[in-house]
Amino acid sequence: MLFSSALSLFFATAEAWTVQSRAAALQNEQPLTERWLSSVEKMRGVNLGSQFIVERWMAEDSWEDMGCSSYNDEWACVEGIGQTAADKAFKKHWASWTTESDIKQIVSLGLNTVRIPVGFWIREDLVYDDEYYPRGGLTYLDRIVGWCKQHGLYVIMDLHGAPGSQSPYEQFTGHSVNPGFYTAANYERAYKFLEWMTKRIHTHDNYTSVGMLQVLNEPVHVAAWKEEAADMIKTFYPAAYERIQDMENDLEIADADRLHIQFMGTSWGSGNPRTYLPSLNNTFFDAHRYLSFDKRITMSKAGYIKTACADDMGRNVVVGEWSLSVNSTLKNTDEFKIEGQKTWYTSYWAAQAQSFERSNGWIFWSWKCDGRDDWRWCYKSAVAAGVIPKDAGTADSLSPC
Ligand SMILES: *[C@@H]1O[C@H](CO)[C@@H](O)[C@H](O)[C@H]1NC(C)=O
Ligand SMILES: *[C@@H]1O[C@H](CO)[C@@H](O)[C@H](O)[C@H]1NC(C)=O
Ligand SMILES: *[C@@H]1O[C@H](CO)[C@@H](O)[C@H](O)[C@H]1NC(C)=O
Repeated sequence: MLFSSALSLFFATAEAWTVQSRAAALQNEQPLTERWLSSVEKMRGVNLGSQFIVERWMAEDSWEDMGCSSYNDEWACVEGIGQTAADKAFKKHWASWTTESDIKQIVSLGLNTVRIPVGFWIREDLVYDDEYYPRGGLTYLDRIVGWCKQHGLYVIMDLHGAPGSQSPYEQFTGHSVNPGFYTAANYERAYKFLEWMTKRIHTHDNYTSVGMLQVLNEPVHVAAWKEEAADMIKTFYPAAYERIQDMENDLEIADADRLHIQFMGTSWGSGNPRTYLPSLNNTFFDAHRYLSFDKRITMSKAGYIKTACADDMGRNVVVGEWSLSVNSTLKNTDEFKIEGQKTWYTSYWAAQAQSFERSNGWIFWSWKCDGRDDWRWCYKSAVAAGVIPKDAGTADSLSPC
């Protein structure tokens, strides 16, 4: 399915950027796909976190409902409660965590993008017999992207949990262990996932608003894993790019309809993703900017605002994850606890969003949480609490910068 038809669909449904985009496109006669990503409109979005890879820290109630509360991650829960029971429990979760009414609400808040984290195991024939992942998620992915198309949301499809796990001891990989991703066999499984997803996006009618495919979320980036990071930059990134492009060649996809292929940007710390790519055509980069994890910040309200205002993550970059969190030693102090601090957190939201719009925009982590009453990580509850405004396009006017 051609991406330009996805854009016509946006024009029919998303009034906010219709006039501007179409005018700009006519003026320059450039492919609409490029217009959308480069200069016309900023991406403003949310992650559908814990939809297809449940992270217990942000979805404790659901995790308990699923019968997983004795386990830390998806793998452990599937192994612990058994495949059949797990498939049933996960199906219930996939069907209910993000509903069509969530998608409509996202659009109504002035957001235009969602990033959908998925595990490689959503393509079930890539899973080995001795691995434990839930089965049956694909039907629900088909349905969610269908709603995104119907209501006019741009979608970034994100390989968030890679074969063997790409990051140490993280629930978001689905299997919280020492990373085993950095081998030829697991790279090959990831390429197969990406080829298959590319084909699905171009041939399945529900996927026409998927415009970007992220080859890998948050790989290793600390000194202990330096060699693995270097190998990924040198081997995995260029081959992933080529395998996606080869699939698009086989499908005879026109230039303007090709997917943007996304890599974690240099700021992530695994190295420069551009170094070995055969071409920068259709590439895009992802910056994850959590001020709560930045050790250089002066830990006061003024310090956070100052840093947020100064941020510039670069061009052809979307800030694909960020939140309203602060250092964990501060979060419950009088200065930073959420009770009574709504006005400050609105400024903190606006300062970050405004700066990230110097780049190509932003995608908040995450849309929804449960089991914790802390809207610093949950856009939907932050809007309900009156902290994040009902129009995502208002960062400039609310920003203290
Ligand atoms: C496509 O998405 C719609 C929701 O818009 C859903 O009802 C339908 O089942 C999906 N189609 C397929 C073939 O999965
Ligand atoms: C990159 O895009 C340009 C312009 O469309 C095209 O001429 C060129 O062949 C592309 N390069 C590669 C390596 O695909
Ligand atoms: C959070 O603050 C503590 C106490 O000042 C400090 O030791 C720690 O490095 C900070 N953590 C991060 C991730 O910045």
